[in-house]
Amino acid sequence: MIRNYYIVFLGSDDIKAVVFDIGSYSIRVGTAGEDGPQADIPTTVGVDPGIQYDKANKYYVGSNAISVPTENMEASSPIKNGLIEDWDSFQAILDYAYRTIIKCKPSACPLLMSEAAWNTRDKREKLMELMFERYNLPAFFLSKSPTLTAFANGRTTALIVDSGSTYTTAIPVLNGYVVPQGIVKSSLAGDFITEQCKELFAERNIEIIPPYMVASKESVREEEPAIWQSKERVPPVTRSWHNYMCNCVISDFKASVLRVSSTLYNENVADTLPDAQYEFPNGYNCSFGTERLRITEGLFDPSTVKGLTDKAAHGVCETVMKSISLCDPGIRKALYSSVVLTGGNTLLEGYRDRLIRELPQKIPQDMKLKVFAKQNPVERRANAWFGGATFAALGAFQQMCISKQEYDEEGSQCLERKCP
Ligand SMILES: Nc1ncnc2c1ncn2[C@@H]1O[C@H](COP(=O)(O)OP(=O)(O)OP(=O)(O)O)[C@@H](O)[C@H]1O
Ligand SMILES: [Mg+2]
Repeated sequence: MIRNYYIVFLGSDDIKAVVFDIGSYSIRVGTAGEDGPQADIPTTVGVDPGIQYDKANKYYVGSNAISVPTENMEASSPIKNGLIEDWDSFQAILDYAYRTIIKCKPSACPLLMSEAAWNTRDKREKLMELMFERYNLPAFFLSKSPTLTAFANGRTTALIVDSGSTYTTAIPVLNGYVVPQGIVKSSLAGDFITEQCKELFAERNIEIIPPYMVASKESVREEEPAIWQSKERVPPVTRSWHNYMCNCVISDFKASVLRVSSTLYNENVADTLPDAQYEFPNGYNCSFGTERLRITEGLFDPSTVKGLTDKAAHGVCETVMKSISLCDPGIRKALYSSVVLTGGNTLLEGYRDRLIRELPQKIPQDMKLKVFAKQNPVERRANAWFGGATFAALGAFQQMCISKQEYDEEGSQCLERKCP
């Protein structure tokens, strides 16, 4: 809930709030009022399941720690379907963020955290309890991610279209509140594209050799077998960790090679797109043509995806239309004129243009469509962080937070009252 705020910024001597934007792919961390998040921590952490009680040494958090091959280390994520499921590894990330990024005691600064719009009451209460009891926060504010994204775009009413790693969602925000009946989720997002890439590599007999295995490589001509030496003394690693390292390579491949077709995919049009060269970590060099557009087409047209049985797989335009149709007719006009695009998967080149081209053909004629999308990739991905950082720098923020005293006196009730 963000409304009725006053534009009074905290003086420079005031303590700045800490802002955490929680995602399934990464967690954006920083201080309110700063230009951007100070860190983008992978949500996947390394875990040594053999260590039972020594939590300080059980987890490997952050890009550097998780990238070192370590015997028995499994890769695991505390977030499933946008919600916190594993509280110990979630705490390991918070500990790491306070210790190495924010470098302040949690008890010294108020905290604003984003949450999925479909978070459950139990999980919200458990989170608040954790933040006050274990971290001893002076003040806490929990805000739904679409509300913060709307705020980052200077609006309190908007339709937030967020394509991250797990889901593509369309979520209406009205006067600073999420409209729950309008939440629509589709499973066609970043992870789906990663899976499509794996299928493509299998079809073309491309084996991903992550950098941790490669000691040296030679440059070879396109499509010729790679010539590379493997590293000696790599400890035996787990399958989950190896897969995570492969997914990191695929993330880079997605950002470098893939695009979204500007119109419905068709082989002839795709043929006119120049090939893209990609060098895999072991030096294998390959060029990609029509596949560059073919494997992203499912985001807009799921009927092109072979063997797709998932009932929650809707194209993004369908997701938007469904969400608006679930809202009161009186607010639809305001939503159509304020569609905000966010999330890492929307950074695929051509994604925004395809949406802008396709959506107007589906909406009622008397409605005017306006799509807002930040140009800067960091802002596009972490819109909610930027919204939270701006909001938490307002003078009114302190009063809107749940204070430690309120928590002690009221318990869980203050959460619904102050952060509905
Ligand atoms: N430039 C890019 N091109 C294509 N895909 C990208 C790009 N940058 C990030 N991605 C993809 O976006 C996804 C991550 O998006 P984002 O950071 O919005 O997710 P998240 O907020 O952490 O997760 P979620 O919203 O699912 O909980 C990943 O699948 C990643 O591979
Ligand atoms: Mg997200």
